[in-house]
Amino acid sequence: MDGYGPSTYGDRFASVYDEWYGADPDTATCVDTLAELAAGRPVLELGVGTGRLAIPLAGRGLAVTGVDASAAMLAALAAKPGGERVRAVEADMGGPLPHGPWGLVVVARNTLFNLADEHRQRACLAEVARRLAPGGALVVEAFVPDGSRQRSSVEVRAVEADRVVLFVDRHDPETQQAWSSFVELTPAGTSFRPCHLRYATPEQLDEMAGAAGLVRTARWSGWDRGHFGEESPAHVSVYGLESASHQQDRP
Ligand SMILES: C[S@@+](CC[C@H](N)C(=O)[O-])C[C@H]1O[C@@H](n2cnc3c(N)ncnc32)[C@H](O)[C@@H]1O
Repeated sequence: MDGYGPSTYGDRFASVYDEWYGADPDTATCVDTLAELAAGRPVLELGVGTGRLAIPLAGRGLAVTGVDASAAMLAALAAKPGGERVRAVEADMGGPLPHGPWGLVVVARNTLFNLADEHRQRACLAEVARRLAPGGALVVEAFVPDGSRQRSSVEVRAVEADRVVLFVDRHDPETQQAWSSFVELTPAGTSFRPCHLRYATPEQLDEMAGAAGLVRTARWSGWDRGHFGEESPAHVSVYGLESASHQQDRP
């Protein structure tokens, strides 16, 4: 996607992110589950955004660092009550990460797929493995790719007297790349909120994590730790260091 870089998604969505996606009924359960997995240890969130998870986690007394490529997202985080408790780092999560060691690394809401090619996803997982504390956990929340998804579609998301929002989506099932944009039309002009993803199946994610030295310890259908099955549209997967699991196996 021409003109699209690591900060584009965040820069274009920052002004509407909390309004459009802030009121998620799963957030409280998600924070509970993450706090339990962190068990008092330092937390790193990749693609921290406006701090939907990081701010309440920091509010529970955890030391939380959030990486985001978008200065606009980090500015929105800093402006919120409690935002000052989160250490914000403006960086591409496909590159070097803050050193840690981290007891918990979180990549929520499909954000790993924002690294829009397989090579960058593998590099990120390898970097997480380097930065995890022994016994630490990586948690990834992601959708399960839908085999029946159309190669291209346009959905009408809002129709008002002076405003129309369209969701335009295209994907290539061979490369698993998806390009989408929310197109907002108003008398003042047109705005585009684009997103470029490389999606992966849960099995592909396990393989990439394994190659990075991570082993899956749990997979749930959501943050309430429900059963994950063939019909689940999304998953929450927990990984630990393979070397730590070998140590645990030893008598
Ligand atoms: C879907 S939002 C999720 C925000 C937050 N984690 C949440 O759950 O509400 C994805 C975030 O990842 C950030 N992001 C996308 N690509 C990134 C990259 N390559 N490096 C760092 N952050 C990135 C975006 O700026 C955005 O804030």
